[in-house]
Amino acid sequence: MTQKKRIVSGMRPTGPLHLGNYHGALANWIRIQEAYDCFYFIADWHALTSDYEDPRMIEAHVRGMMLDWLSVGLSPEKSTLFIQSRIKEHAELFLILSMITPVPWLERNPTYKDQMVQIQNKDLSTFGFLGYPVLQAADIIMYKAFGVPVGMDQVPHVEITREIARRFNSLYGEIFPEPQAILTETSKILGTDRRKMSKSYNNAIYLSDSPKAIAATVTQMITDPQRARKSDPGNPDVCNVFTFHRIYTNPDKVAEIDATCRTAEIGCVECKKIMAQNLAQALAPVREKRAYYEQRPKLVHEIIESGCGRARGVAEKTMEEVRALIRIESRKT
Ligand code: TRP
Ligand code: SF4
Repeated sequence: MTQKKRIVSGMRPTGPLHLGNYHGALANWIRIQEAYDCFYFIADWHALTSDYEDPRMIEAHVRGMMLDWLSVGLSPEKSTLFIQSRIKEHAELFLILSMITPVPWLERNPTYKDQMVQIQNKDLSTFGFLGYPVLQAADIIMYKAFGVPVGMDQVPHVEITREIARRFNSLYGEIFPEPQAILTETSKILGTDRRKMSKSYNNAIYLSDSPKAIAATVTQMITDPQRARKSDPGNPDVCNVFTFHRIYTNPDKVAEIDATCRTAEIGCVECKKIMAQNLAQALAPVREKRAYYEQRPKLVHEIIESGCGRARGVAEKTMEEVRALIRIESRKT
């Protein structure tokens, strides 16, 4: 049997996962579990780079994120699911990589520059925040990943990872493959207000939402802004509710809604009701699985232990190689 190629990706535990996270990343993570040897981790140290002033919620979010992952179909049998801070080797490799990473590589990182401008309510002028991509590089090359499934905003980080890997290899010895970013076509899911779906915009539908909560949120969705009254014909092409129908409603019904919206035969209230029902139905198995795992904290604990154990095994081996190459605390000295 040929060895499956290794994939690594992480997610910061900043809150419950919503449909934007699902369609933007998780759906792809789930899909590629069959074809690749996937290492997925909860990047709690990364959450600390921006939430260091008030880290109290991080632990609860880690637990919630693992439940979200298991309930949507990340599988502990197929993939290695773990928590970054449980593998101390990440911190050691981060330290070593920080020695060889020129500061200008970090200062010119577009994601860093964007966030420094956009995030105004937190003081991000820290060493850790600037060094974020070095920690991310450690996360990735620790497992000698071939690919990193990420969104567009993370491509610069994978690029810096490649540069750091190259630099390590040329200084000490060729042990790290240069990982490539794996970008996937994802369906753009907008929030209720038609902005990007985000917890901080308060416009999200969560994977763990009850049918009631879903119905309430869908009621608030902005539809075709030109359609003020039910008697006005609507345009599904510009309507976010319709985008959701395309994903969650059967094609015949989608065609019917498309036609009857344009002739003003169907109103937005009814249209939303149908969508909310279909969405709630699609999420029913996710809610069921979540309840299953919520009732079995011991099982979840074991899943985390076993995932961390597997990750640690690989990380320890990598670090032995690294220590031998840099001649610090290596077993050979
Ligand atoms: N920086 C990523 C994000 O904000 C999270 C992350 C941390 C990550 N380490 C990683 C992603 C390693 C891929 C690989 O989304
Ligand atoms: Fe959108 Fe449906 Fe209203 Fe048409 S009827 S504008 S598709 S919500």
